Amino acid sequence: MATFLDDWSAEFARAKSRPRPYRNAAVSFRPCSIDDREPRRRLLEEVGLNVFKFPAAMIPGCDLLTDSGTTTMTMKQWSQLLLGDESYGSNEGYFEFKQQIVETFGPQWENRDRDQENVFIFHQGRAAESGLFTCMAGILGAAEKRLGKEPFYIIPSNGHFDTTQANIEANCFEARNLFSDELRQKDESALFKGNMDLDQLRALLADPKTRERIPLVYMTITNNTGGGQPVSLANIRATSELCHQYDVPFLFDACRFAENAWFNQQNAPTCKGEGITEVVRMMFESVDGFHISLKKDGLVNMGGCLVVNEQGLLVKRYPQLRAMLVGHQILVEGHPTYGGLAGRDLKGVVEGLKTVVREEYLTYRINQVQRFGAAIDEQCGASVVVKPVGGHAIYLDLDQFFAGTKLRDDQFPGVSLTALLLIAGHRMCELGVYAFGKHVDGKEVGPDPRVNNVRAAVPRLCYEDGDLQAAAEAVGILYRRRDRIPGVEVAYGQDRPMRHFISRFRFASA
Ligand code: F0G
Repeated sequence: MATFLDDWSAEFARAKSRPRPYRNAAVSFRPCSIDDREPRRRLLEEVGLNVFKFPAAMIPGCDLLTDSGTTTMTMKQWSQLLLGDESYGSNEGYFEFKQQIVETFGPQWENRDRDQENVFIFHQGRAAESGLFTCMAGILGAAEKRLGKEPFYIIPSNGHFDTTQANIEANCFEARNLFSDELRQKDESALFKGNMDLDQLRALLADPKTRERIPLVYMTITNNTGGGQPVSLANIRATSELCHQYDVPFLFDACRFAENAWFNQQNAPTCKGEGITEVVRMMFESVDGFHISLKKDGLVNMGGCLVVNEQGLLVKRYPQLRAMLVGHQILVEGHPTYGGLAGRDLKGVVEGLKTVVREEYLTYRINQVQRFGAAIDEQCGASVVVKPVGGHAIYLDLDQFFAGTKLRDDQFPGVSLTALLLIAGHRMCELGVYAFGKHVDGKEVGPDPRVNNVRAAVPRLCYEDGDLQAAAEAVGILYRRRDRIPGVEVAYGQDRPMRHFISRFRFASA
């Protein structure tokens, strides 16, 4: 009997299908059917083919526009919302949130200084970015110190997200992406394509002329713009060492910190055998501060914050920053102890931060995204998905998808593809030459380095594999007809900042 049980359990340990480590506790039905393609086409044309403006309730399939704020919350989180303390000053959730920051990210994030805050709460990630760069611009006089029309100051990163880039540019800084070689070369075997290009960063920092133009260095974990690719602990440590060698503060954009930790636990030799929390703490030992949109790995629908290490280089180099941040919070968000959030939101985040580092959750989540990627390639009978698949999303490589067709960049085939997918019943978004490109003096200027994807971001704790399979099949159906996919013309907004959110398009006549 013992042998039978041993055999049997060894085979189960190797089983390919595993149940989700959670159950549906509430579901929502949609008031539309996957077969309503004609009404969807009419509705989409009314909103100028802009998928952001399409009524979400009318999407019967997978809404993969973003993994941000689309989390299904756990019952424990919902129970915490009922316990919310809605006091204007110093609500209960505020103290619990600050304590949870220490528990999740490590002891150096404790607020020991009684005079000054180290956790700055905002209603979402970009508000934290805006707070940081508005204050930094004030400290440095960024607007006054331009080089002709160009900004003087540069913020290097392994890959800025679009809102981060926009906030940096709005405050007269230049956002510079130092994508890794593996990412630029589309190396499918590289496990940490999200890494910072250390040679490029070293070249910038070693030269005193460019170093004086760099007030801080950013790193996005995982690298969303670069395809949701993880950053290795080794690259984090090397970037930190390099920055600190030159006295330059180093910060994370930490939206997907837990997913980044999972990839390190799986694939980085220094993290083998460590628990997720240990890996998270190892990552956060290297930075002087971080901002996070809690709408991702905070597992909530709204929230963000900026956290500084009181002993770190950011505070040391810019001692006025913390007081300025509080002033900014009061101006635009509310009292710093709630920072634009309801007290109940903070309770929900505390519970979310506890859940997100559960290994069985992360393993299921990221494996599901990987299975989705494999399903798309299988449906297309070709490799169209950026590989390796990142943590939160599938990126369709538009240069692969449309290879051999006659469509040009300025016909924005990615925009067209997302419109057609929405008619099919699923929502994805273009993050490529339209979202990241610009229209300057009547001409299109593509993103440099080139990024050209359609992203299907998978909301957390939301969809089952069968739902994603249906979305994969829709991609396959369109791939087989890619020769006949029309381009789009831009009817409004081509020269506006963050144009993909607001533009209107129409299908070009063939
Ligand atoms: N940084 C990264 C890496 C992000 O992915 C996002 C948001 C933000 C900052 C801004 O946070 O939305 O709370 O203001 N990304 C979402 C996305 C919108 O769809 O990838 P936010």
